[in-house]
Amino acid sequence: MQPIAETKRVRRIYGKGDAAVHALRDVTMQIPRGRLLVLKGRSGSGKTTLLNLLGGLDRPTEGEIFFEGNEIGRLSDGQRTELRRRNMGFIFQSFGLLPLMSAAENVEFGLRLAGVPKEQWKQRIQESLELVGLTKRASHRPFEMSGGEQQRCAIARAIAHRPSLVLADEPTAELDSRMGLTISRMFRDMVRQEGMTIVMTTHDPAIMEVADDVYALEDGEISRYEEETN
Ligand SMILES: Nc1ncnc2c1ncn2[C@@H]1O[C@H](COP(=O)(O)OP(=O)(O)OP(=O)(O)O)[C@@H](O)[C@H]1O
Ligand SMILES: [Mg+2]
Repeated sequence: MQPIAETKRVRRIYGKGDAAVHALRDVTMQIPRGRLLVLKGRSGSGKTTLLNLLGGLDRPTEGEIFFEGNEIGRLSDGQRTELRRRNMGFIFQSFGLLPLMSAAENVEFGLRLAGVPKEQWKQRIQESLELVGLTKRASHRPFEMSGGEQQRCAIARAIAHRPSLVLADEPTAELDSRMGLTISRMFRDMVRQEGMTIVMTTHDPAIMEVADDVYALEDGEISRYEEETN
């Protein structure tokens, strides 16, 4: 089966000359469908850089990135934006919710951007808020929710349009370890039940227990991480 996304010999160099930072060096990896993949690595190892490239938010200095077999570097800016809005979901460490909108309205906003027909909004909003256990907070605005609830709301928004690929950058970093584990188990269930593919970065060893695959980034180089089994 074709992987949902793939990178081939990807380099990303920020800056030039003496100031150049080699954030990614020759990264080749495949992201198989229907799996929860965790990217681990120290601060500065290149995790966010790689997620941004997979999501078409940034371009590689060298190498190619494919989504569903198409090289995204060949798409126009407009086509890449469409691809992102319709087929991908993003979850950032800082939630990124719109402060004046309720939980339900935040989810609706994502559906609108994704071009989902208006007749479907109500049901999609209900379903996605239910999936993250936020039905009772639907009319709450972000400042009326706890950190964990805000993060779950951001997840509901990221998945409401049923993207095939969800990119999550340290989605549990601002949560306590219990909520972090709850959220990562929720990701695992979404992969199992909804057939989504999720790529998530984390520092947290406890989160890795839910992963199907773990990759480690070190100084911009990637390797498959095999846990010692005994
Ligand atoms: N816009 C930029 N300009 C210059 N250097 C950058 C830029 N963005 C990132 N870097 C550098 O690239 C390297 C990789 O950064 P990246 O954000 O991908 O790391 P990370 O693994 O996500 O770290 P963290 O765990 O702290 O979020 C770092 O050395 C960083 O300083
Ligand atoms: Mg980062």
